[in-house]
Parts: sequence; structure tokens; C-alpha cells
Amino acid sequence: MDKIVVEGGRRLEGKVAISGAKNAALPILASSLLTDGPCRYTNVPDLRDIHSIIELLQSLGVHVERDGQTVVVNASSLSSSEALYEIVRKMRASILVLGPLLARMQHARVSLPGGCAIGARPINLHLKGLALLGAEIDLEHGYVEARAARLKGAEIYFDTVSVTGTENLLMAAVLAEGVTILRNAAREPEVVALADVLRRMGAKIEGAGTANITVTGVDRLHPVEADIIPDRIEAGTFMVAAALTAGDVTLTDCEPDHLGAVTDKLAQAGAGIEQAPGSIRVLGDRPLAGLDIRTQTYPGFPTDMQAQFMVLMTMAAGQSIITETIFENRFIHVSELKRLGADIVVSGETAVIRGRASLSGAPVMATDLRASASLVLAGLVAEGVTEINRVYHLDRGYERIEAKLQQLGASIWREKI
Ligand code: EPZ
Repeated sequence: MDKIVVEGGRRLEGKVAISGAKNAALPILASSLLTDGPCRYTNVPDLRDIHSIIELLQSLGVHVERDGQTVVVNASSLSSSEALYEIVRKMRASILVLGPLLARMQHARVSLPGGCAIGARPINLHLKGLALLGAEIDLEHGYVEARAARLKGAEIYFDTVSVTGTENLLMAAVLAEGVTILRNAAREPEVVALADVLRRMGAKIEGAGTANITVTGVDRLHPVEADIIPDRIEAGTFMVAAALTAGDVTLTDCEPDHLGAVTDKLAQAGAGIEQAPGSIRVLGDRPLAGLDIRTQTYPGFPTDMQAQFMVLMTMAAGQSIITETIFENRFIHVSELKRLGADIVVSGETAVIRGRASLSGAPVMATDLRASASLVLAGLVAEGVTEINRVYHLDRGYERIEAKLQQLGASIWREKI
């Protein structure tokens, strides 16, 4: 087990390249199950979650080869439609094999993803949608079992916008008979990236990126080659690091269009932002101002950036209010930030941050992926040394984060415990 140690007080400067997006690569790798030939993906990040989805695909008999950031997935050898608890329990997003397995094998038995630190995270909307497409669904012994000779197109309304729910039903509908309409669908760039890959496989999809997606089922899909889009949450995390440390950082290999809400809030907080195709420069040369933030579905402010902005607000003038509307338990990082001296009061879905606190280094515990990123950020500005334990959370979603921060001048390293 590792811990990450950060010595605070360094200004970040220089260039950092953004990796491929975890939340685009996961559904896209799963979509390979819909074809029976080699799909080749480039810009695939080297992350624990990617290892987990590859392990899951291999457990289904799929042939997967990895060479650096290139992954080739060949589902012509797919032999099982059962995703076992031992693998699924490592990563909730394993549920993304449910739709494509059912569409391709007419059967799927997938372990139910358990609870999660940030919320209950049920999958009722995934199952409701599959049932509307004609699947028989059973929940037994901790597994969801779904059967359908062939799925049939239907109109599906999402009570709540769900990213992986939209992705799972998209992957189920592309091989269904007839037309499916997904209403109140997720509009995240990762959903659009998946729809682009499915279309290149031969699927008929309209409206991806809007709240209403129409899918006309086809009989067969073919293998593709695709490049994974940049990770907007990793990019946002580095943008906050630059503003927080009064630095001057240029992000390359990123997609500024996917970061509208983040860029807007950073500018409001006082950071200088310069955008160009594929790159963003963040100048943290002015005092930070407090903000009010409300997390929303895309294109609103992303919940996956909430914890990072909370750290920024601990160093800003005045009072800030953060309202978390997506997950019911996504303030776990608050108690750890308070250990570093932050002044934060939580009441229900709202956190009030009194800024200008100076933070002081201490040992802290990571609890989930984005919470752990916020602790690294806090360590960059805290006086003295901050030790972050349970960094396996961080490794799930950030590729070589300490090496990238070192490259920008941070004093950060990893130690075995
Ligand atoms: C995706 O999770 C992301 N994960 C999450 O990123 C992200 O936080 C989330 O979307 C919101 O943007 C991946 O893409 C792999 P949801 P997902 O279904 O799809 C409720 C990270 O840090 N809901 O959009 O699981 C749910 O409880 C991770 O990279 C139901 O009630 O999230 C939540 O309150 C963390 N029933 C809300 O909808 C359902 O069937 C949104 O969840 C499905 C969801």
C-alpha cells in the first residue's frame, strides 16, 4: 500500500499533458462486446479502473492486448455472459457490460455493484430501461440476470439524468429491433464519445449530446478504431492546482470545449485563462475570490470537480457556498480538509466555506477518487508536509499524478507504507 507525501508552498509552472478520459474509455471498451472482431483504441489512460474493465472483459473470454496507451479488444472469442462479483466489486462501472452483453448474447448475469462512499447509487433506471426494451429481469443472490431473445425498441424516460444509465441503454438499443428514444438522457461528452464510436461501428444514433437520443436498431456492428477523448476532470484538477498555487500552467492535449463551467468558475474566482485549440493556460496571479457553486449534470458544473473547488475556496476571500445536487454523500472530504485547518460547515447538501484560512500539513485519509485529488491539492498549499493515505483511490482515476505535478515544480512523492 502506498501513501503520497506533499510538501506545500511551491508555485506550479510549466506544461502538463492531459491523459485520455477514464469515463469515456470505460463504456467504449465495454462497447467492444457488441462486435466480433478487433477494436483498436488509442489514448487509453493507464489507470486501475482500466485494468479492472480489461480484467472483466478477459473473464468473459474476450481477447485484450495492451501496448502502452493502445488497447486492442477482440470479442470474437466472447464465451461467457456472467460478470462475477469478485471483479465487479472492484469497480461500479463494471455495470457497463450489462447492456452490450444482453444485446450480443441475449443473456447477461452481472453482479450488482454494491454501495459507494459518495452515495447509494442504485441502478434502477438501467433496469427499468432494459425492461422497457423487453428484457426479463431477475435480481437474485446479489446478481441481476437479464434475458431477451431480441430487444425491441421503446421510448425510455429517465426520471433522473444518469450517465452510465444512458450509456448502458444506448449500447443495448443499437442492436434492438426498431427505434428507441432515450428522453432526459445524459449529455456528458463521454456519452457523445461513446455514441461516436457506436456510429462508427455501424449504429444509427441521432441526438447524442442532447436530452433526447434516437437509436434505430441494426442487425450487426463491425469493429472500429478510435481515439479516447481527453479527461476533462483531470484537466479541471490541474487548472485548480495552477490557480491555487498562484502558478502559470499550460495544459496540452485537452478539450477546452468540455470545460465551460469549470473555466467560467475559475475566471470568476480570479484566475486568468487563455484558451487555444487543444490547450488551456491558467494564470493564478490574482487573489482568489469566493464563489457559489451548484453541481449539475452536463453542461452544468460537474460534481466530479466539487471537492477540488472546495479546496480552492478555502484559500479565497470571503465566504463560499457549495451545493451538491448529484450525490447525497459527497462531502466526506470535508472532515479531512478540516484536519488541515479548513473552516467548513456542512448542512445537508450545502457546505459553507470561510476562506483565507491558511492550511497546515497533516496525515489525512483518502475516501474516494475525487476526494483524494482534493487532498493532494490541499497539500500543495498547506504549510509543511501532508501525507495522504489510501491512494489506491487516486490511482483509479489519475495517471501518474505525482510525476505530472513534479514536472510542474511540486514537491510530492510516493512512499510504500
Ligand atoms: C458517472 O457515474 C461517472 N462515472 C461519475 O464519475 C460521475 O460522478 C457521475 O456520472 C455524475 O456525473 C462514470 O462515468 C464511470 P449517474 P454514474 O448514474 O453514471 C442516481 C468519477 O469520479 N441514479 O449519472 O454512476 C444516482 O444515484 C465518478 O470519475 C439513480 O437513482 O452516475 C445519482 O444520484 C464518480 N438510479 C444520480 O442518479 C440509477 O439507475 C446520477 O448518477 C442511476 C443513477
